[in-house]
This record gives sequence, C-alpha cells and structure tokens, in this order.
Amino acid sequence: MTQIKACCESIARSGFGTLQISDAMLQDYRKIVEGYAAISQATKESFSFAYETDGFFPFGAEYSCNEDHPDLCERFCYWPAHAPKRKAFEFTRSPFFMAVDSFERQISEVAQELMDGICRELGVAPLTSFRSASYLQLCVYGAQATNCVRRFAQDPHEDGHMLSFIKPTREGLVLVRGRSLEPVRLLEGEIAVLAGSLLTELSDHAIPAAYHAVIAPHKPVASSSLIYFANPSPEQLLTSFFRRQAIDLTGAVNARHTGFGNQPIQPS
Ligand SMILES: [Fe+2]
Repeated sequence: MTQIKACCESIARSGFGTLQISDAMLQDYRKIVEGYAAISQATKESFSFAYETDGFFPFGAEYSCNEDHPDLCERFCYWPAHAPKRKAFEFTRSPFFMAVDSFERQISEVAQELMDGICRELGVAPLTSFRSASYLQLCVYGAQATNCVRRFAQDPHEDGHMLSFIKPTREGLVLVRGRSLEPVRLLEGEIAVLAGSLLTELSDHAIPAAYHAVIAPHKPVASSSLIYFANPSPEQLLTSFFRRQAIDLTGAVNARHTGFGNQPIQPS
C-alpha cells in the first residue's frame, strides 16, 4: 500500500492522516520557518492585503470562534491566485518568498493527489483543480506571547476548509476527540492532514472534521506552523458526493473564513 493510499484511507475513516513530504519540500519548509525572523517590520507593513487575506498580518489578528481570545501569533498568507498582482514588490524576489512559492506549488500537487485518492476511496468522481481557491499560511508564535496563563495558544476548533495540511516546528498540536486531547506527533519529514467541515459536508457526513487545538507551552518558546488550506474551485458546481445536495461553496467557505476574523474571500 502506498503511503498516499494509507493517508486517504485514514482521512476517509477518521478525518486525520499523516504524509511524508519530499526532501525538496522539507528544504523549502526550513527556509520559510527560519527565514521569517529576517523580514523587516517595514516589509510586513507594506506587504499586507487584509481584504484578500494575503500577505502579513500582525499579532492577534486571527481567532478561533472567540474574538476576545486571539490566536497568539503573527501570520503570513500566500495565495497563488493573488501572486501575479504582487510582482512589483521587491519582497517577492526574497529567498523567503521564493521558498513559499515553491512549497505551495508542491503541496498543491500533493493535495490534489490526496483528494483524488479520497474520492477514489469513496467511489466518487474527482474534483477539478482546487489550487486557485487554496492558500498557504505561516503562523509564528513568539516566545514572549506564550508566557501567559492561557491553556491553549489556539483554542479548539476545526478549520472549516476541505483539507488542512499542517507542519508545526514544535509539539503542541493536539486532536480534540471528545474530552481527550491526542498529541499529534510527526517525524521530521511528515505533515499532518486534517479534514475540515467542508469535506464533512461534501461527503454527506461520512468524513468527520478533525477538531484540534494548540497547547500553550509551559515555558516561553518560539514556534511556527506552516499550513496549507485546500478548498474546491468556485468555478465548479458542487454537489455532495452521495445525496447530490447542492453546496453553496462561496457562502460556506466564507462563513467559516470570516469566523476566524478574516475578510470574505475575494475573487482573484
Ligand atoms: Fe486550525
């Protein structure tokens, strides 16, 4: 059994799986998580497009359900759909940005292959390319931000997208299963794959959404998490896999997207 097939089976069964990434992706990942610290405040401020959930976002701009309980991180988001509009920015020639661009290209192929496999697993037709509706996000948790009394750096939630691919630099990510918290332990070259409620809706509730949280560390420590959010293309008329219920994709994704404190997703 190939590992993609094993991951597809695991997601179809439980909403969660893990995948090995290539060495090239791992190298890009390291350039991204290690390169963030060198980005100037001026670059972060100029390369920020909140109305498109693209570019840099300051500390505490995102939250999980509770507006008064912000996620304790800064963020950088990258949408390939918006990238052509950003070419005039010098920052797009930086090693950090090029690694982001390269990682996104590779993870989008992996995600498509995985989703094709999940569709095969369920015996339904594959979805068309979803790269244009999907994006990469880096969350950076500073050491000072974690030195507080909160139990979670990010409260329990599910992402609301179709699939999330998550690679954190440290432990702390947990699956919330009923009242128990199961730590997600990944090998160096592995990435976690979590189903969101859009996949639950698409699969007529066959696939559960993976609720998760980030435990706040006991001692101040910096950490990052790179996440790829995969969503179906809005150009495709979507119906649920088995009952053929129409899905208002833009409405459904935006309801969840804005629930995290983001602006509605804009057409590119
Ligand atoms: Fe999440």
